[in-house]
Amino acid sequence: MENKVYKGKIFTFNTTWSHISVRIVGEDGETKHTRIGGLLSFLHGKELTFTLTCPSSIGKLVLVELEKQDFPQDPWFVRKVQVTCPEGKTYTFPVYTWIEDDDIHRFREGTGLKDVDDHHLLAKYTRETELRARKKIYCWEVYKEGLPLCMKADDACSLPCEVRFSFTKAMQFDLTAAAGLAEIKLTYLEDCKVNWPSFEEIYKIFRGHKSPASGYVQQHWEEDAFFGYQFLNGVNPVLIRCCTSLPCNFPVTDEMVFLHGGASLVNEMKKGNIFLCDYKNLDGVRTNVINDKRQYLAAPLVLLHKTPEDELKPIAIQLKQTPAEDNPIFFPTDAKYDWLLAKTFVRSADFNEHELNVHLLRTHLLGEVFTVSLLRNVPKVHPLFKLLIPHTRYTLQINLMARQTLISPDGVFTKYSSSGGEGMFTIMQRSLSSLTYSALCLPEDIRDRGVESVPNYYYRDDGLKLWDIIHRFVNGVLSCYYNNDDDVQQDTELQNWIQDICEHGLLSQVGMGFPQRFVKKDELVKFVTMVIFTCSCQHAAVSNAQFDYGGWMPNIPISLQQPPPTRKGTATEETLLKTLPDVNVTVHGMAVLYLLSKQSSDFVALGQYPNEHFCEDAPLNAIKEFQRELEDLHETIGQRNKSSEIRLAYPYLDPKRVENSISL
Ligand code: FE2
Repeated sequence: MENKVYKGKIFTFNTTWSHISVRIVGEDGETKHTRIGGLLSFLHGKELTFTLTCPSSIGKLVLVELEKQDFPQDPWFVRKVQVTCPEGKTYTFPVYTWIEDDDIHRFREGTGLKDVDDHHLLAKYTRETELRARKKIYCWEVYKEGLPLCMKADDACSLPCEVRFSFTKAMQFDLTAAAGLAEIKLTYLEDCKVNWPSFEEIYKIFRGHKSPASGYVQQHWEEDAFFGYQFLNGVNPVLIRCCTSLPCNFPVTDEMVFLHGGASLVNEMKKGNIFLCDYKNLDGVRTNVINDKRQYLAAPLVLLHKTPEDELKPIAIQLKQTPAEDNPIFFPTDAKYDWLLAKTFVRSADFNEHELNVHLLRTHLLGEVFTVSLLRNVPKVHPLFKLLIPHTRYTLQINLMARQTLISPDGVFTKYSSSGGEGMFTIMQRSLSSLTYSALCLPEDIRDRGVESVPNYYYRDDGLKLWDIIHRFVNGVLSCYYNNDDDVQQDTELQNWIQDICEHGLLSQVGMGFPQRFVKKDELVKFVTMVIFTCSCQHAAVSNAQFDYGGWMPNIPISLQQPPPTRKGTATEETLLKTLPDVNVTVHGMAVLYLLSKQSSDFVALGQYPNEHFCEDAPLNAIKEFQRELEDLHETIGQRNKSSEIRLAYPYLDPKRVENSISL
């Protein structure tokens, strides 16, 4: 009988000196191990072809085995393998793995398969051994009590190759203060431990790095309407809430805020025109000592009013949580520098709340939890792995670097921010213990904060559209594999994923509303939507604008070195300059915000999947539809941003500027 011929191709990223042994396993049999490549493979470049023969058909293909021989210290990155069967059908095996040792590595054919649908014996064995091996590599570690657990790794080099930065990214990326200062050419000021003598001097170091947005910030930072605007579209757009009754520790009266009568707080609250930003999370947090000087962090309450002109303006600010005579409530009618100083304390409090809670905890650290749990519990052939792995790219390494260079004992944040030191962890621990699931699900968060109809809230408008687009995409993909709730409940790997997230990421805290297990398919779709949204859009919203808004330091002072004022009528421009951080603190802050806002040249935008993990038509069509919807949204946002009616363009959630994963 004539032999059956299987023609294959290995797509690689780099060539290898080694011989490669290949074997294909099908449902009805398997080929023999066949040796290919070797020194000659260099001649083949990045596509290595092979032919395997077999006395009879081996049926539907299940997996491919690759074994790299001869040169163990010759790491080889394989993208995928394609095999055309004698019957004419071509199968793709996504690999996307570095092969370093001389073990046999098995890679599954690209069809997404849940555990219950996987029947081939060797395939099941491969599934189990893959997870056993991963659980040894991806281990949880306590970084700090009360914070989500993180991935155990000593340094970037000890991370598995598959989750490490690419060569390009590694070469371009350095998160140290020295690198940042060198890039913005301010190294000469790194030890300048003195006050800024004037705003002109601050401007001199800023003007070299001005972008259209940061230039706007520098010109308008003192304005009340811009102060209000930043609660909607600045770096921290998630704190503001509609205020329906005043907190009892914020005793504002009508006479204080509506001097000429004609309006009352109760009526304005009824109309939905009053908003509150409460930084109670920062109350009593231990502050830093910088340049041998005690630093200060307020825990303000800010009341805002939506004006008939649709602007959001602050009408009252109390800098400490407990009302007292020495804790005055400031108003826009106060003397210029009393009011500006009060707003500056709010902006500085916002920096700490934003970076530690909104940015680091709620995107980076949660993203790491979703990633580590995925790698530990879900095999590569599982549809959830295929769907989520592109949204975890570089997250483990960037978080490791953040722990080593930003919040470590000699990290930039620790050394130069007002909460640097134990205070940072207090803020994050409090934030985690008060975190709810609905706060991470944008439609619910918008509803819970009562901000559905605030005008000019572009974060909300763009974010909700993105949420819906991602939700449709996730539903489309998961519906290819889960027909009903039973399918979801029976998927042990999926249930292990959520259980590990709750136990190690959320520290088994109850009452936060997170699903402990998935019972309904809708719940699964919503949770996975939240994961992708958090790891792409939400991170972009709270990260992309950092230098635009913080490059001009007086708008976002990373620390303040005078206590909050205890009475009115004494502040001057000199008081403000004395309160703002010293020169060296300013430039270190600028350097970090600059590095954290810089797009890498191997950036992958939301919805782009250069690694093809899915192979079937149905999920591939869902990806195409996802990309089409994102393209349309990109057009819509572009048009809106060109409109002369908007104060400042809001490009941060333009799908082309949203990265697929947390990598910065
Ligand atoms: Fe980030």
